[in-house]
Amino acid sequence: MSAASVTVRAPAKINLHLGVGRPREDGFHPLATVYQAVGLYDDVTATDAEEWSVHTIADAHLDLASVPDDGDNIAIRAGRLLAAHHSIARAAHLEIHKGIPVAGGMAGGSADAAATLVALDRLWSLDTSDDDLLALAARLGSDVPFALLGGTALGAGRGELVTPVEDRTALWWVVVPHEIGLPTPLVYRRFDELASYDPAAGATNSYDVPAGLIDALAAGDVPGVAAALGNDLMRPAYDLRPDLAARHRDLATLGTVLLSGSGPTQLVLAETAEAARRIAVELTERGLPHWLAPAPVAGCHVL
Ligand code: C5P
Repeated sequence: MSAASVTVRAPAKINLHLGVGRPREDGFHPLATVYQAVGLYDDVTATDAEEWSVHTIADAHLDLASVPDDGDNIAIRAGRLLAAHHSIARAAHLEIHKGIPVAGGMAGGSADAAATLVALDRLWSLDTSDDDLLALAARLGSDVPFALLGGTALGAGRGELVTPVEDRTALWWVVVPHEIGLPTPLVYRRFDELASYDPAAGATNSYDVPAGLIDALAAGDVPGVAAALGNDLMRPAYDLRPDLAARHRDLATLGTVLLSGSGPTQLVLAETAEAARRIAVELTERGLPHWLAPAPVAGCHVL
């Protein structure tokens, strides 16, 4: 008899606005961010097993070299945390199909962790409350609670405190990955070295979420959203990687460009699917790999 299994799909995220403050005592940076879930997905299939194990496969263009295949994998850490929370001695095999760029600033690892929590909760009929799932998610990483939620949300604390916001846009992102990853801690360290926050204000210039962005999202006003996009990590990321600054200028000839989280993935905003396709044709001519992703999309869900 084959073991029962559950598959859960989790979306990538971008930050429409990423305001970063001066580091806290625990080393994390306080964030004032607006997350949006975009239509690139990782699928996690959980199957009962005697021991924990994980196997990852990927779409074309994705480099799996940096994805751990042992207990260090965040999906296994998520599974163990859920089992410990319920004081049960069970294990599972996790099969991850990655469609989200690895180490790309789109929270692919966080998506896997969130999907694993939901998959095992269903597989083992645990009925974990939403509050408990969000709390477990927060322990796994700053972006994991948002992967559960999806849609569009404010993020506070170190990013783990999420509140849904109204988003009536239906837009497309042209996602341009980069073959060389950029570790998040490195970008935050450079942010500190550049003292990108305004010392007088005790936070960054853009630490507050711009009211114009919230209003534009609620009104479905895509040009308004484009005008209010911002990311405090752009400066340190481009300082570390001048090649990304050059590509930003190159992409800016096609539309409004945003660095995704801590990078290196970059995004071009398209108002319609037709506009996204036009940009995609141009990128193909320039020899740059890319994906088209609608937004906003739902959070983790059972397939
Ligand atoms: O929470 P997560 O594991 O995703 O964070 C990865 C790293 O990114 C942290 O170890 C820290 O160096 C940095 N980080 C930060 N401030 C945040 C979120 C992440 O400094 N708010």
